[in-house]
Amino acid sequence: MRKALRMTGILENLTAAPIGASDPDWWRQATVYQIYPRSFADANGDGIGDLRGILSRVDHLRELGVDAVWLSPFYPSALADGGYDVDDYRNVDPRIGTLEDFDRMTEAFHDAGIKVIVDIVPNHSSNRHEWFRAALDAGPGSRERERYVFRDGRGEHGELPPADWRAAFGGPAWTRVPDGQWYLHTFTKEQPDFNWDDPEVREDFLRTLRFWADRGVDGFRVDVANLLVKDLPAELPSQAELDAMDKDSGTHPLWDRDEVHEIYAEWRKVFDEYDPPRTGVAEAWVGTAERRARYASAEGLGQAFSFDLLVADFDAAQFRRIVADNLEQARVTGSSSTWVFSNHDVTRHATRYGLPPLDGRTVKQGVEWVAAGGPESELDRELGLRRARAATLFMLALPGSAYLYQGEELGLHEVADISAEHRQDPSFFRGAVYDGLGRDGCRVPIPWTSDGPSFGFGAGEAHLPQPAWFAESAVDVEDADPASTLNLYRRALALRRELQAAESLEWLESGRADVLRFRRPNGWQVVTNFGAEPVALPEGEVLLTSAPLIGGLLPGAATSWLRA
Ligand code: NOJ
Ligand code: CA
Repeated sequence: MRKALRMTGILENLTAAPIGASDPDWWRQATVYQIYPRSFADANGDGIGDLRGILSRVDHLRELGVDAVWLSPFYPSALADGGYDVDDYRNVDPRIGTLEDFDRMTEAFHDAGIKVIVDIVPNHSSNRHEWFRAALDAGPGSRERERYVFRDGRGEHGELPPADWRAAFGGPAWTRVPDGQWYLHTFTKEQPDFNWDDPEVREDFLRTLRFWADRGVDGFRVDVANLLVKDLPAELPSQAELDAMDKDSGTHPLWDRDEVHEIYAEWRKVFDEYDPPRTGVAEAWVGTAERRARYASAEGLGQAFSFDLLVADFDAAQFRRIVADNLEQARVTGSSSTWVFSNHDVTRHATRYGLPPLDGRTVKQGVEWVAAGGPESELDRELGLRRARAATLFMLALPGSAYLYQGEELGLHEVADISAEHRQDPSFFRGAVYDGLGRDGCRVPIPWTSDGPSFGFGAGEAHLPQPAWFAESAVDVEDADPASTLNLYRRALALRRELQAAESLEWLESGRADVLRFRRPNGWQVVTNFGAEPVALPEGEVLLTSAPLIGGLLPGAATSWLRA
């Protein structure tokens, strides 16, 4: 790898250091790499990624140049929803490792100058959580049932659910238990919603935050941060009535209620008990920038994901509007912008950009939009990857923090051809969301070597089948190729450290509607060509391009960074 990088002549000139270990603002401009633990690296060869596997790949992430990793859930779980059904918030799934492994891994990341963020899932536990089991045993009217949302059914014998609500992955949102009562689950029936009016639920999550913070965890990603608090009247509204209610008023019975911020104010106090303060980032699919800003407030979680770029087409006008809006929002709230193209819930961006545009297909609270935009037969893989590289280079030059998802540094495409018998995602089995394919296609274990069982993921077969074309994108192959996506990310992330001082940019006239051009305060310029016709670059030293220049011009679907 060193050899490949030296050929570029770029790394040697870099002086900027990684972010400081004790800097309280480290998160503002951090590059955060999301690890989906069961699909990253498998140390013991049982087909499931584990913490020792992650430990063995710390060097990959150090060389990549990320500032932090965010680990999706690694807690004990029956995997009804990929680990977002948590049995025990203060433990490690024995198939993934032990708390000792966690400590060793965290230490290794810290030694490498990389922060560690863990995923907190507060809206629901799993149905195997000791509290839910106790609630089932204790029966109706018990103290144990108050920690969840139990109701009697309708109909003569309570045989009808309390309401006709639909769960997020399809099917009903109320499930009946043997004694006749029903419980609420926004997601699968294995994910009962907590009752956040219950003081013990609140206390227990504070304990969980301290548990991980005491182990050296630097921050928390908060799952569906906009749910949690509910206001359920005796007479429940129907699904149609719920759908017709304003979700952005702070008073919807289930979504984005204003009171949820009282919880995060309490969490903030816990974060601030530590030095540097622990950080939070909300996953909150809310309707407006103003609603999102509440989650990002300094008195709350501090930061919230913006999924605006993620749902946009590869389109200059859309990108420009989104960036301008988000930077303005960050300026007003005092938080920093966040940028995301890919994560474990969406079709990988190399694939999205190789499919017909979404053309403004309506985005609604999180699920429908994830559709890739068309069938695989319409996929132009080369164009998709080319655009993904251009978009990523555009994003990595922006002020704010960038969230990357494992495998995107290899330019991986979505794996579409997974047979039903191998699929795991509940959304595949329970409904027609995610274009009927579910989310397994971005969760396939990543390739480390071009051969060997499971392409170096582990010594055995991977828990989701990997396609033969993974060989071309394996880390060892890309490491040796100076033009690979991996080496593009490495160079970009190393250079990015020089950009991080000031959180602003200035738009410059590009002369074309399909070309964006901006300048950062250190004088660097960034040009992205969203169209097909090559475009001339401004005078200056070209630092990096996502595709080779043609006769000195920036070709279509490409980005260039210049010292102008
Ligand atoms: C959002 C997570 O990212 C997703 O993977 C999960 O299915 C839901 N929340 C429910 O926890
Ligand atoms: Ca394993």
